[in-house]
Amino acid sequence: MSTADHSLLMRAIEAHKGGRFAEAEAGYRRVLRRRPSDADALNFLGMMRVQTGNVGEGLELLRRSVKSQPRNPHAWTNFGNALTASGALEEAHKAFSTAAELAPTMAEAWFNRGICARRLKRAEEALECFQKAVEYGPGYAAAYEALARLLYRAGRLSEAADIYRKWIESDPDNPIPRHMLAASTGENVPERADDAYLTEMFDAFADSFDENLQDLGYRAPQLLASAVAEKVGARTDLDIFDAGCGTGLCGPLLEPMARRLIGFDISPGMVEKARARHIYDDLVVEELSSFMRARAESADVIVSADTLVYFGALEEPIAAAHVCLRPGGLLAFTLERLEPETGAEPSYRIEPHGRYCHQESYIRTVLTNAGFCSISITGDTLRREGSRQVAGHVVLAVK
Ligand SMILES: C[S@@+](CC[C@H](N)C(=O)[O-])C[C@H]1O[C@@H](n2cnc3c(N)ncnc32)[C@H](O)[C@@H]1O
Repeated sequence: MSTADHSLLMRAIEAHKGGRFAEAEAGYRRVLRRRPSDADALNFLGMMRVQTGNVGEGLELLRRSVKSQPRNPHAWTNFGNALTASGALEEAHKAFSTAAELAPTMAEAWFNRGICARRLKRAEEALECFQKAVEYGPGYAAAYEALARLLYRAGRLSEAADIYRKWIESDPDNPIPRHMLAASTGENVPERADDAYLTEMFDAFADSFDENLQDLGYRAPQLLASAVAEKVGARTDLDIFDAGCGTGLCGPLLEPMARRLIGFDISPGMVEKARARHIYDDLVVEELSSFMRARAESADVIVSADTLVYFGALEEPIAAAHVCLRPGGLLAFTLERLEPETGAEPSYRIEPHGRYCHQESYIRTVLTNAGFCSISITGDTLRREGSRQVAGHVVLAVK
């Protein structure tokens, strides 16, 4: 490539990185007019096309790029990413496999191949790929997480714990492996998931949350909304607080009963999604106990779906809810069920998936001690975890 073509390409890449897509495209096309098979220009223009929503044209350009430079693993990886985005998983898997053959220590190629294998339901192959990704990319958080989760799903808990330990070694300040190691070993379990863990995990989860939970048959918002509706009757004038509102799945179900609907959540990423629904009168990024404590006697109803499962000890959030409710106000929440067996087991326990489950008798005691009455706790299925149905409590209590 001539120096002039090279600097033209570099300027186009610069514009691309700066989000100046029209300028970048003009540059790439000028290079391609002079050198129609230039693999880099084809590759970058292809990625830009995918990035700006034209996956079909992007794929075609990327296909030409790997044809013109078949030994470039990065070109194969980019091609694989575009194929994944278009849903062509088998072909994407082949592209990542080629990248990994060409560059056997390229962690990204192994990770992406693992993701395809997992989505194609080839769990053993996915495990091997994630193991390689971790081996060749020692700081690769997504690879550690994917590997540990797959081991957990396969019931290989002590191996999952080993992966969390290795992840902590490579990234000691990361709250996710610390929480998950406690969850999978039952050792050094905190009284509740810490703020940094929740923020990091839910911010990362925000984009895919609604789709994932739909796939898991998630129904806590529906269960709570119909329990609340039955209790409040035809009222439409209530100040309703959605504690741990997440992406706002409860919002549309609560809105008909609300004069004001306020959501709060510790994860800015989740709150941003809730904001996009344009249903809440106000949305605040804050830890739920401190939010409620600071607003004494301001809510008629507090709803908290699938959120107190990130607390082991329930005394603080339930006392804060009591402060926040007006006299006669209603608290409604879901929790996962810890089956009473011998009577000697603890009031709550963390499960290897990272959420806590609680005994009904403990919930009742905490609510009573906080001053609640008319306590109703019914059993229902909340969602699936792997192939298992998650048994839960639907709890209502009145101040
Ligand atoms: C599983 S999501 C459920 C979201 C929503 N309630 C729903 O049913 O779709 C749990 C949410 O609770 C939030 N959360 C967990 N603990 C919290 C806390 N202590 N303070 C505020 N938000 C919290 C998380 O950030 C997350 O958005």
